[in-house]
Amino acid sequence: MIQFFQVYKTYPANIPALINISFKIEQGDFVFVTGPSGAGKTTITYLIPRLYDPTQGRVLLDGHDLRQVALDSLAENVGMVTQETYLFHTSLGENLRYAKPAATQSELEEACRAANIHDFIQSLPEGYETVVGERGYRLSGGETDGAHLPVAGSPGDPVLSFGVGA
Ligand SMILES: Nc1ncnc2c1ncn2[C@@H]1O[C@H](COP(=O)(O)OP(=O)(O)OP(=O)(O)O)[C@@H](O)[C@H]1O
Ligand SMILES: [Mg+2]
Repeated sequence: MIQFFQVYKTYPANIPALINISFKIEQGDFVFVTGPSGAGKTTITYLIPRLYDPTQGRVLLDGHDLRQVALDSLAENVGMVTQETYLFHTSLGENLRYAKPAATQSELEEACRAANIHDFIQSLPEGYETVVGERGYRLSGGETDGAHLPVAGSPGDPVLSFGVGA
């Protein structure tokens, strides 16, 4: 369970982005946060992997304040897809292994199937060996986001935090 308890977040020299936000997300819930531009949606998603800590209040994972959870355990359990997805200028396979260097090809394909991007990758002339990024094969914005899903979380990762636009 993820719980925000009276969370405030103020960026330096800014008016508060989050003011007294409290909610609970139970295990298995799939939650959408909507609101106008600048409302604080991305800020909420950034607090879960601890890219920032709240200025005041607490974010809890299964009852533990995130500040008490070891960072490597948090990194293993929280995946994130942001508005700024980025692929390195190398093969799709290498990009996908970024999160789990030891992943086997079949684990990789399983994660891509779960993210509904496997068929697309297979349809490329060089499949998982296709070089993407600056001068390689150009993926559309949505395809780049799609390729990011399996990087962020393989099936079974407990928490996946999205901060995507559209
Ligand atoms: N790194 C930062 N430094 C200073 N202010 C920031 C920073 N990031 C966000 N803000 C401010 O915090 C507020 C909330 O921003 P946030 O990115 O969370 O909004 P959002 O709801 O995700 O918006 P959008 O729908 O445009 O993605 C905005 O007023 C924004 O200008
Ligand atoms: Mg945003």
